[in-house]
Amino acid sequence: MTQEQEKAAQEFYEENGYWVSDIVFTAEEVAEMRAAHDRIWTLDYDGDGFPLWEWKPDDKPNRLRKIDNAWWINDVVKNAVTSPKLGKLAANLMNSEEARVWYDQVIYKPGTGKGEQTSAGNVGWHQDYMYWQCTDTTNLVTAWVALQDTDLNNGCMSVIPGSHKWGLLNSDGFFNEELEAVKRQMEVEAKPWREEPLILKAGQVSFHHSLTIHGSRQNFSNDPRLCVVGHYFPKGMAYEKKQNVDNIRLLGPRPKQGDLFNNEYFPLAYSASEQA
Ligand SMILES: [Fe+2]
Repeated sequence: MTQEQEKAAQEFYEENGYWVSDIVFTAEEVAEMRAAHDRIWTLDYDGDGFPLWEWKPDDKPNRLRKIDNAWWINDVVKNAVTSPKLGKLAANLMNSEEARVWYDQVIYKPGTGKGEQTSAGNVGWHQDYMYWQCTDTTNLVTAWVALQDTDLNNGCMSVIPGSHKWGLLNSDGFFNEELEAVKRQMEVEAKPWREEPLILKAGQVSFHHSLTIHGSRQNFSNDPRLCVVGHYFPKGMAYEKKQNVDNIRLLGPRPKQGDLFNNEYFPLAYSASEQA
C-alpha cells in the first residue's frame, strides 16, 4: 500500500473500529490454509505442542469448532499469522512500529443448508478485550482471514461500526448463541446500533479493534465457513493485573505487573526497523 492508502486505512479504522483489506492471500495460500483446517480437525499436528484451547471431536455436528494457538501445532497457520504482510497491515492500524502475535484462532462454522433456522454455531456479540484484560492497552487488533467467499448466507462476521468508542461493555458473549439476549445484556439501547456485514472474497482480511462489538449468525450454505484469525498487539504492551487470562502464564513462572509481552510465545509478525 502507498503511504496515502495506509493513512486512509488508519483514519477509517479510527472512526469505525474496523477496516477491510484487499486480497492478502493468494488462491494457493488459501488452499493451503483450508488443508490445514482438515488436518487440525483430525488432530493431525505438526510437532508436539499443546494449544491452550484445543478442539476435541464430539457428536454435535452443528457446533462451532474453534482452536486457539493453532500456530503451535500447524506450520501453515504459523506462517500465515506471523507473516509480515498481515503484521504490517495490523501495525499500521495500531499506529505502531511493530505487530506481535497475541494468539490465533482457527474457526469452523458448520453449514446447515437452507433448512430450519438455528442458533447453533452462532457467535454471540462480544468485544475481544472482554477476554484480554491483562494488558495495559486496548490497542489490539484482530485480523480475520476469509478462506472462501464469505457473506451473510454463509454466516459472515458482522461488526457494529463505532462501538470501539463505547468502552468495555457487560458481555461475555462469544459462546452465547442467542445474539438478541447478549445485546440486551450489553445495555446498548441508547447507542447507534448498526450491523455491518463483512463481505469478503477468499484471501481478503477484515480487521477490528479489541473493543469493536462483533458476532456472526447461521451458515445457510452446505459447506463449512472457514477462517484463520490472528490477534496482534503493538510495541511495548505490558502485563497489567486486571483479570486472570491464560496468556499471563506465557510470561513465565513468576509474572509481574509491567512485564512486556515480548518472548517467543508472542512472535514478531512485523517490525519497521527490521524492514529498514
Ligand atoms: Fe472476537
